[in-house]
Amino acid sequence: MTEPPMVRAERLVKTFGDTRALDGLDLTVERGEIVGVLGPNGAGKTTALSILSTLERPDSGRAEVAGFDVLTHPADVRARIALTGQYAAVDEKLTARENLVLFARLLGRRPADARARARELLDEFDLTEAADRRVETYSGGMRRRADIAVSLVGAPSLLFLDEPTTGLDPRSRLGMWERVRALRDGGMTVLLTTQYLEEADMLADRVVVVDHGRVIAEGTPDALKDKVGGTQCEVRPLAATEVEDAARALSALATPFVRDGVLSLPAPRGAEDLTEAVRLLDAAGIRVADIALRRPTLDDVFLRLTGHPA
Ligand SMILES: Nc1ncnc2c1ncn2[C@@H]1O[C@H](COP(=O)(O)OP(=O)(O)OP(=O)(O)O)[C@@H](O)[C@H]1O
Ligand SMILES: [Mg+2]
Repeated sequence: MTEPPMVRAERLVKTFGDTRALDGLDLTVERGEIVGVLGPNGAGKTTALSILSTLERPDSGRAEVAGFDVLTHPADVRARIALTGQYAAVDEKLTARENLVLFARLLGRRPADARARARELLDEFDLTEAADRRVETYSGGMRRRADIAVSLVGAPSLLFLDEPTTGLDPRSRLGMWERVRALRDGGMTVLLTTQYLEEADMLADRVVVVDHGRVIAEGTPDALKDKVGGTQCEVRPLAATEVEDAARALSALATPFVRDGVLSLPAPRGAEDLTEAVRLLDAAGIRVADIALRRPTLDDVFLRLTGHPA
């Protein structure tokens, strides 16, 4: 018998008053995968995780985790998952070590065993040095690490991460990405939500784009980037009257997309394409107010997929 997927959600609907937070969401996560749910504020990401982790009940549709129905077998589901929420769950007045030992004890470990598990996780999440300081003294990145460590006390096989790097500085963000990959390499299945295309690109094996509670696109990060054109070169001619001439000059390189006086064209070779664009514009005598390379964002994905920004 083949093993069921780690997550199988079908046509999930969830309304809060007049708000349709989920509107027929489908989602599958295979064992060992990192799946990124990408969507703007209010897309339904947290609601989806809440249903999968048995904190909310769907109005209709069904969801299974590791083959267990979230409505009929919530205890079996909870035994296999960890949820690191968008907002911190650790007790700020306690140290990281105290938080970890507390959770381990709540999960039924004996004191010595609980302390050993705490040491293991402190080490894994690079918190050993700060282990005996209250969490309220931690930086944002350390807090987030403590939060994930606490959620892993029970050694789950599926981890839900709700916007793991929102609000983190670039260095903490890189550190978090490394840790998520290490968890995957250790056999964990990860379902994460994010508002950043770059994050989904760096981490996810597969990306599911969600808007207004439903999936509007799905695929590997590369396939998604192909759809939105990958890195773009953006050019703003000094005079608006030169936009057409600029488009003609640049068409030797690629067909530009024009919006609000700015020309965008695919630049898969990065700086090389930028240099070529400068050369073409210069040869055509077009003066440029601004020219730059830009990596696609969530807004670009939405613009291409839905015709409107996120
Ligand atoms: N408990 C609730 N009561 C009322 N409305 C809710 C509740 N939870 C979510 N919503 C609404 O449902 C929609 C989806 O919310 P959800 O939190 O799932 O979005 P999200 O994708 O996680 O957004 P964000 O990126 O801001 O975290 C939003 O319009 C939100 O206001
Ligand atoms: Mg959310």
